[in-house]
Amino acid sequence: MQKLHGSSANGWMACLIVAAWLVGGLGPSPVLAARDPATAKSKGFAGSVSCRECHERFYQLWSGSRHGLAMQPYTVEFAQRELTPQKGEIKIGKSSYHADISGSTGYVREREAGSSKKYRIEHVLGGKNVYYFLTPLGKGRLQTLPLAYDVQRKEWFDTAASGIRHFPGGQTGLSVDWKDPAYTFNTSCHGCHVSQLTTNYDLRTDTYSTTWAEPGINCEACHGPSEEHNRILRQAPKGQEPEDMRILSWKGFTPEQKNDACSICHAKVYPVTAPPSRREIATLTTSISPPWRIRTSIPTAAIWVKTTPTPPGG
Ligand code: HEC
Ligand code: HEC
Ligand code: HEC
Ligand code: HEC
Repeated sequence: MQKLHGSSANGWMACLIVAAWLVGGLGPSPVLAARDPATAKSKGFAGSVSCRECHERFYQLWSGSRHGLAMQPYTVEFAQRELTPQKGEIKIGKSSYHADISGSTGYVREREAGSSKKYRIEHVLGGKNVYYFLTPLGKGRLQTLPLAYDVQRKEWFDTAASGIRHFPGGQTGLSVDWKDPAYTFNTSCHGCHVSQLTTNYDLRTDTYSTTWAEPGINCEACHGPSEEHNRILRQAPKGQEPEDMRILSWKGFTPEQKNDACSICHAKVYPVTAPPSRREIATLTTSISPPWRIRTSIPTAAIWVKTTPTPPGG
């Protein structure tokens, strides 16, 4: 095990990126969105609950925090506590949308020229200013629903209305449909709202079997895999801490290192050092070439791509 304190910026950045995004593996999830603690465990992740026996105060502070709640399941209790019923319908393009939160399952209903379709609300993201909701949309995709909720105004709004795809060079921006890949959780929300995410995209069938260990930003997204830490501290005689704690502490980080580590998610800009699969690039943008640099600005969810674009279909 390398010594973590004072290690190079690149070393721990990589570690954090790995912790946040890359760790996981092929999950045998029957339903998409199945959590995959088993896979995370095999990579040395122990889960946030495991910290509780020794760090109760940290656990309490974290579990109700925005990090702890960065993504949560949609439940009746959640709806009753956090949302208000939608008045009327919201027209988007040719369709009208209404969120039905009265029953044990929440839905967004889509109506167009006499036909009607229901999309189940499965997960909730955000909560400081707005809530976004995710629905299963086939082939393992979780899609951001067209209706979002404004926490301050207590009203529903068109999620994608502000989602404009911008191109450099003065080309007119294109508005993004809510079913666009830019709003697909599996690729576009990355590991920023869940922990130890693995996309598990299958190019052949164009299907995702995405897994993650915990919804929200868990302890180990910041402190790294902690199974070894747990093991040696459970064995250590009381009051005698081992010199190497086998965990990532931020105490020794320089301000720059701290900024870099937080901005992996917070600056919403990062270099993709290894090119993603071609299909994943295609789902993120219509066309990008190096430098691989993608920036999302949330909650407007506009996707900025620093490259020369090919217009969709072109
Ligand atoms: C069996 C008890 C135990 C468990 C379980 C445990 N810790 Fe610790 N941990 C300690 C003790 C004791 C220390 C040293 C005193 C302190 O800093 O609180 C420590 C220190 C730490 C440190 C500081 C390390 C340093 O180098 O200063 C971090 C970070 C940490 N724990 C995170 C976690 C996380 C995250 C989990 C869960 C995945 C966890 N711990 C689970 C007992 C435990
Ligand atoms: C793995 C991604 C990730 C990392 C790393 C991360 N954050 Fe966050 N953070 C988030 C997300 C996502 C939210 C918003 C969650 C929500 O609103 O539901 C958030 C919310 C917050 C908030 C609450 C915002 C508010 O105004 O209420 C603060 C403060 C914050 N983060 C600080 C930090 C700091 C400091 C660090 C580095 C020590 C950090 N974050 C690292 C993803 C991350
Ligand atoms: C690069 C990391 C990153 C990605 C990718 C990302 N988010 Fe976030 N998101 C954040 C952070 C960080 C915050 C907290 C910002 C703050 O409070 O300052 C946040 C906040 C939010 C909020 C709450 C905004 C508010 O002010 O209440 C929602 C809702 C949200 N994200 C949804 C999504 C959805 C849906 C996706 C994918 C389509 C997504 N995010 C992709 C990092 C990310
Ligand atoms: C968003 C990143 C983030 C998350 C999530 C997070 N921590 Fe931390 N943790 C930090 C930072 C930053 C510090 C402060 C280091 C300092 O003092 O400069 C810290 C400090 C600590 C410390 C004090 C020892 C030390 O290294 O300074 C412990 C123990 C700890 N965290 C445990 C936990 C546990 C347990 C959880 C989950 C319940 C958790 N942390 C979640 C970033 C995080």
